[in-house]
Amino acid sequence: MFRPRRLRSNPQIRNLVRETTLSVNDFIYPMFIEEGENIRKEIISMPGIYRTSIDRLDAELQELVDLGINSIMLFGIPKKKDAIGSESWNSEGVVQQAARYIKAKYPQLYLVADICFCEYTDHGHCGVLDGETVNNDETLLNLEKQTLSMAEAGFDMLAPSGMMDGGIGVMRDVLDLNGYENMPLMAYAVKYSSAFYGPFRDAADSAPSFGDRKTYQMDPANRLEAIKEATLDLQQGADILMVKPALSYLDIIREVKDQFDVPIAAYNVSGEYAMVKAAAANGWIDGEKVMLEKLMSMKRAGADIILTYHAKEAAKLLI
Ligand code: PBG
Repeated sequence: MFRPRRLRSNPQIRNLVRETTLSVNDFIYPMFIEEGENIRKEIISMPGIYRTSIDRLDAELQELVDLGINSIMLFGIPKKKDAIGSESWNSEGVVQQAARYIKAKYPQLYLVADICFCEYTDHGHCGVLDGETVNNDETLLNLEKQTLSMAEAGFDMLAPSGMMDGGIGVMRDVLDLNGYENMPLMAYAVKYSSAFYGPFRDAADSAPSFGDRKTYQMDPANRLEAIKEATLDLQQGADILMVKPALSYLDIIREVKDQFDVPIAAYNVSGEYAMVKAAAANGWIDGEKVMLEKLMSMKRAGADIILTYHAKEAAKLLI
């Protein structure tokens, strides 16, 4: 009889035959940088995650370095918002300042910028409004400005999350024309319109003031459309393809991984984090074990890179 249990009988053999491993090198840790001074505010729906002003960043940055976490993604929370999100291309904007600060003091950290407008617009949508919907091509003009501003601020990689058609191509062109031909683009290629972003919108003050994002983010029911989106972004010059959210979309991660020969990233989003934290706080699950199982499942599904708020906790357990 063939007995699969032979290879499960002790930790040593299980370690030898394990097919997937998680490493601190897989993680990108997202951080929320708020404009102002002396700010270090925990986000209620995301225990352990903070909004921090630049002058209070050092302790956490040092902690990341000590844990061996090499990559972070920055989200900015500006004081000033307007209809078009113009603060997002201000060279003295909060994220641009943070990038310069971090690059100078922690050169070993790889810095990724989330490129979007929802944190910078007073209506919370991801671009310029035309009535009740986002005008794609006008938003692309501003996307060029934001792209250049973030590149000039010193980011190592740009990650556009706005789901505008043609966005990757516009970014690639403006980067190439300005001497940033080596700047990689990690496209939020397959980004669903998801209720799992709820806590993030509190964290980044970016909830839409009316309506939803269904006219630009994808319908969770669609699989073939994921292939179309990924294909388009690759044609326009994406270097890495992201699927977001992760946990309810593991099938999509696998599909994209099998179809394309570029690195795949998965965004383990705020709602996925909050659910684990809430259940663990109630004593209903073992939070650490569930977290590692969840991250492992993303890796097993095909993610090469995982953006996760759990990065620090996971790193401590993986060391
Ligand atoms: C910006 C953006 C969002 C997230 C990442 N970038 C919010 C959204 O699209 O509403 C969500 C991240 C998370 O939930 O952790 N467009």
